[in-house]
Amino acid sequence: MTTIADKLAREELIDMVPYQSARRLFSMADGEADSKFKSKIWLNANEASGSGIYQLNSDCINRYPDFQPEHLINAYANYSGLSNEKILATRGADEGIELIIRTFCKAYQDSILICPPTYGMYAISAENHGAGIIKVPLINNQLDLNTLKTQVGKVKVVFLCSPGNPTGNLLTAESIKSTLAMFGDNAIIVVDEAYIEFSTKNSTASWLKDYPQLVVLRTLSKAFALAGLRCGFTLANSDIITMLSKVIAPYPISAPVAEIASKALATAGLEQVSIRVQETIILRQQLSTWLTEQKWCKKVFSSDANFVLFQTTNLTTKNFIFNSLEQQGILIRDQSKQLQLANCLRISIGSERELSLLKQTIINAYQSLNEPLSVEEK
Ligand SMILES: Cc1ncc(COP(=O)(O)O)c(C=O)c1O
Repeated sequence: MTTIADKLAREELIDMVPYQSARRLFSMADGEADSKFKSKIWLNANEASGSGIYQLNSDCINRYPDFQPEHLINAYANYSGLSNEKILATRGADEGIELIIRTFCKAYQDSILICPPTYGMYAISAENHGAGIIKVPLINNQLDLNTLKTQVGKVKVVFLCSPGNPTGNLLTAESIKSTLAMFGDNAIIVVDEAYIEFSTKNSTASWLKDYPQLVVLRTLSKAFALAGLRCGFTLANSDIITMLSKVIAPYPISAPVAEIASKALATAGLEQVSIRVQETIILRQQLSTWLTEQKWCKKVFSSDANFVLFQTTNLTTKNFIFNSLEQQGILIRDQSKQLQLANCLRISIGSERELSLLKQTIINAYQSLNEPLSVEEK
C-alpha cells in the first residue's frame, strides 16, 4: 500500500537507508531500556566508558537560549586557542557536517568528496541534501594525492577524517597541506578531528590563519565523555562561520547543553579529559598488543583514536568473534562492509574491566570450540 509519505516525499528518500548508527543497530527502545543498557558492554560507538556528574540550574529555562551561548563559546575559545568569531557550536559534529553541505552544495548540482573507508555521515548528509558524492579511496590509510588532484574544480567540499574513523590513524600534516594547496579556493576542506584529543600530534585548527578554505570539526562526544549531550564545534574563519550561521537552526544549543558543556570545558573538566585520554591511550596500547598476539588476527591498524580496528584471518573468524561477543552482551562494530576493510572489526576503548571481559570472552569462545562435546550435547 502506498502511504501518504511515499506519495508526497522526495522520491529519492523512499529507498534511502538512514545511517546505521551503533545505537540504531542495537536499539535501547524495547521497553527494558534501562536494564538492557546497563547489562550490555557498549564498545561499538567510540563513546567513553564512564560519565561525569553535572548539576543543572533551571532558573531561565522559560527563556529561549542565546543563538550561540556566550559562556560556551568563551569556554571553547579558551580551550582551542581561537577567537570567538571562529567558533560555531552545533548539535554534535554531525550537525556541522550537514550545515557545511547545505551551505556550500547546491542540491542536484554540486558534489562532496570523501576518502573511504571513512565516517558514514558525510555520504548520508550529502545524499539527504541531494549533493553528489565523489570517492577517492585512501591508499594505505593515507590520502591519494594524485587522484585528489584530478578532482579539483569538480567538488565543493572535501571531507578528510583525521584521526580517521574507522581506520584510527592521523593523516600526515603534509598531505593535508597539499590538499589545501591543490584545491585552493575551489573547495572547502573539512578536517574532521572528532578524535584529535587521543592523538599526540597537533590539531590543524592553528592553520586557520593561513587557509581561508579550512574548516575543522570537533566534538564533546569522545574525549569529553558527552556523546549524549549532542554538542560539537565547527571551527573556521569568520566569513565561513557567518555563512553557516545563516543555515543553522535559530536555537541549536539548548540551555542545559550549554551549561553542561561549559562545565566540561572549565579547568576541572579539562583535567578529567586529560586523565581519561591518558588512560585510554594505555588501554589502547594494551589491546593492540594483545590483538597482535592472537592467531586469528591478521592485522592491527595503528590508532590515534579511542578505538582499535583489526582484521581477522577470514570471514568465518570475523563472524565467530563478533557473534561470540554479542551473545555475551559485548557489542563491537563490524566494519567489514567498508571499502578495503574485509573481515575487519572495530573495538572502542572502554574501561579496563570491559576490555578484560572482552578478551576473556574471546578466549573462552575459542576454548569451547576445542572442548569435547558433553554427553547431552552428543
Ligand atoms: C569521525 C567522526 N566525526 C563526527 C562524529 C559525530 O560526532 P558527534 O557525536 O559530535 O555528532 C563521529 C561520531 O562517531 C565521528 O566518528
